Amino acid sequence: MRKKIIAGNWKMNKTPEEAIAYMQKFIPLVKDAKNEIIICAPYIDLAFLVEITKKTNIKIGAQNMHFKESGAYTGEVSGKMLKSIGVEYVIIGHSERRQYFAETDETVNLKIKSAFENDLKPIVCVGETLEEREKGITKDIITNQTEKALEGLTHEQVKNTIIAYEPIWAIGTGKTATAEDANNSIKQIREKIANIYGKDTAEQVIIQYGGSVKPSNAKEIFTMSDIDGGLVGGASLEPEDFNNIVNY
Ligand code: PGA
Repeated sequence: MRKKIIAGNWKMNKTPEEAIAYMQKFIPLVKDAKNEIIICAPYIDLAFLVEITKKTNIKIGAQNMHFKESGAYTGEVSGKMLKSIGVEYVIIGHSERRQYFAETDETVNLKIKSAFENDLKPIVCVGETLEEREKGITKDIITNQTEKALEGLTHEQVKNTIIAYEPIWAIGTGKTATAEDANNSIKQIREKIANIYGKDTAEQVIIQYGGSVKPSNAKEIFTMSDIDGGLVGGASLEPEDFNNIVNY
């Protein structure tokens, strides 16, 4: 049985002071949660969050990283730097980064490899636009993105990759895929991984759903056969809401 992993993606929200205030409320709320919890926060909050969540059941992730270890890349942060402060996870290839910051399948692949070299676990986002969905090419888009993201990884690394299926039209819009639809797309992603890396590997990969998950729909989505938890944006910003999702 795969475990459920629920990750919050704060995006560009919360100062360190706000992040600490959040955790003071959130830590006691989720202390007995049976699902795994990750908070992915802005770089500036990470060291504070690692510190305050020590000895708790909450893990900390970044929202992006560069694929080089160091060098003349003004404004960037490397996997080695994230690891050095105790960060354990990193979101890679979020659709907002693909859309606004020129992230490509190629840089996504390089970043995943660099994450593993630095002992970070990647949460890799794939998903179709509304236009692609209406054209009926969702399966091609998401399975291609998955294949390119994972290219050149070992079976062991694939098993340790978290994939977040996030239909772009459902992110921050209040529209969610139906639970059946999301489950179906996630099955297609898993089948693709099975074709390349074998069924045994595919069965171990955690594949989350993301896109307008909220307390009222979390249970329906997370209890589907192939959905192993979620990547939650807006509804992870308030400790009570996110607790209701984690403990759906
Ligand atoms: P949302 O964002 O939950 O606000 O739709 C999800 C995400 O972008 O990861």
